[in-house]
Amino acid sequence: NKGNYEHYMQKEIHEQPESLTTTMRGRLLRGGSSKAKSVLLGGIKDHLKTIRRSRRIVFIGCGTSYNAALAARPILEELTGIPVTMEIASDLLDRQGPIYREDTTVFVSQSGETADTLQALEYALENGALCVGITNTVGSAIARNTHCGVHINAGCEIGVASTKAYTSQIVVMAMLALAIGSDTISSQARREAIIDGLFDLPSKVREVLKLDQELKDLANLLIAEQSLLVFGRGYNYATALEGALKVKEVSLMHSEGILAGEMKHGPLALVDETLPIVVVATRDACFSKQQSVIQQLHARKGRLIVMCTKGDAASVCVGGACRVIEVPRVEDCLQPVINIVPLQLLAYHLTVLRGYNVDQPRNLAKSVTTQ
Ligand code: UD1
Ligand code: F6R
Repeated sequence: NKGNYEHYMQKEIHEQPESLTTTMRGRLLRGGSSKAKSVLLGGIKDHLKTIRRSRRIVFIGCGTSYNAALAARPILEELTGIPVTMEIASDLLDRQGPIYREDTTVFVSQSGETADTLQALEYALENGALCVGITNTVGSAIARNTHCGVHINAGCEIGVASTKAYTSQIVVMAMLALAIGSDTISSQARREAIIDGLFDLPSKVREVLKLDQELKDLANLLIAEQSLLVFGRGYNYATALEGALKVKEVSLMHSEGILAGEMKHGPLALVDETLPIVVVATRDACFSKQQSVIQQLHARKGRLIVMCTKGDAASVCVGGACRVIEVPRVEDCLQPVINIVPLQLLAYHLTVLRGYNVDQPRNLAKSVTTQ
């Protein structure tokens, strides 16, 4: 049921304030006069000790689910102090990469049925690792076969392009970081700030959704382009990859997410007056580095669309004409949840304007159960 919306993808983008609320429901404890704010993930609470003792956390997934894990990686590393590595499920299988008994492997999958992820799970089970699932589908193969896990509770996702599952996955993995790190007193203030940020997140997402018309206007400008680059780094490297994935899979426009720190190692050669480039430059520890990336792209006459924190338009666009997308600021590690929304809207509007099928892009299936 699409309600008042024309497409499921549109509905699912716009229902993110509600899906995020259900994802967090019952899992954030506000604390009382003497009790600290904390996180309770019923599905893993009995395994936290084992996870804390593991030598490494390995995130495993495909497509958007992999990107969500990439967005959460920095906060996992910060709050747990455990090395976190990333595996695309098919690549782990191709390499038969090392997985050890001392590892915690985390399988991220909206459907819980993706063949590569499921096979990687079997592989990790054979190698004796603790296997944790993060799925949206109760009773799915990955939910059943993992030792423990967390349901993201985003509600049924019908559009082939994953949108609300992505933001709920990031939130669950941020909560996972909070839960694993909860025994560290020195990061108590940081954890409480993130929990406050989680409480505020649905209203901030509601705010960023108001940019809908602005993104439709931008899509109109880009309708006939061949390609779109998206630059990000730090927490928002994942935003660049996921934004580009959304644009290419539904609007059928070539798009590539680029780690801004790699700009001079190749991608800079592509920059000219015609190729549109989105640069994610919201406030966090990487902001000044992104400002310098913007200046260098300006110097090569790049056609820039800068995503920045509300109020920063003047400081990100010095010395050149560029279009800005201003988004509300949230706690740095949660910013990817906000920043992906304008790119989801852009991908959606580009697709409709270019006349392609939004909910069922050509050649793609919602759940990839074959290899
Ligand atoms: C659970 C109930 C929820 C109830 C709540 C009340 C279910 C599905 N959830 O939510 O309805 O309101 O208790 O306390 O009945 N699991 C895996 N792999 C996965 C995902 C989950 O093994 O990929 C396991 C978990 O370890 C857990 C169970 O499935 O044993 C349910 O997980 P989850 O729904 O996340 O747990 P709660 O949030 O506690
Ligand atoms: C992109 C998309 C795919 C899926 C991927 C994994 O919008 O939907 O990239 O993310 O096929 O699917 P799940 O998460 O079901 O394992």
